[in-house]
Amino acid sequence: MKTFKILMIIGVLSLGFLSFTKLVQEEWKVPAKYEKMTNPEEASKANLGIGKSLYSKHCKSCHGSAGLGDGTKADEVDGDLGDFSSEEFQSQSDGALFYKSYIGRDDMPNFEKKMTEEDMWLTVHYMRTMAE
Ligand code: HEC
Repeated sequence: MKTFKILMIIGVLSLGFLSFTKLVQEEWKVPAKYEKMTNPEEASKANLGIGKSLYSKHCKSCHGSAGLGDGTKADEVDGDLGDFSSEEFQSQSDGALFYKSYIGRDDMPNFEKKMTEEDMWLTVHYMRTMAE
């Protein structure tokens, strides 16, 4: 009986620990070098137009046309797609958005071979227009 109790305690403790490490893992750390970057491209009308078409081509299928995380492929991927119209999302620095978008992790694809850095910066400008 005593062994059973001890096993129960160990079980509960390790479950708690596992959910804790999962929480920690879910935080997406942006390297300081990126965090401080500002968008080097001009947010002109023409550039926003290019950003919009790049977004439609590469991002919309998962993130949805307004960035709400409701694209046609949204159900097939793991991870929090976020809400690009939210204050929480928009409060991130240009460099943080660039880093997450360009480098990716897990089901968020890496775009280093599919897009130029300049194109990704234009896409970051376009994501800024999704603010509520
Ligand atoms: C195949 C589906 C898919 C495509 C296509 C995709 N994403 Fe994602 N994206 C994800 C997933 C899944 C996450 C959550 C990843 C995580 O938290 O581990 C994510 C997360 C993000 C985040 C972080 C969100 C936040 O709340 O901080 C940004 C920014 C982002 N994506 C931008 C883009 C951009 C820009 C494109 C197009 C160039 C794109 N994504 C294309 C699946 C996708």
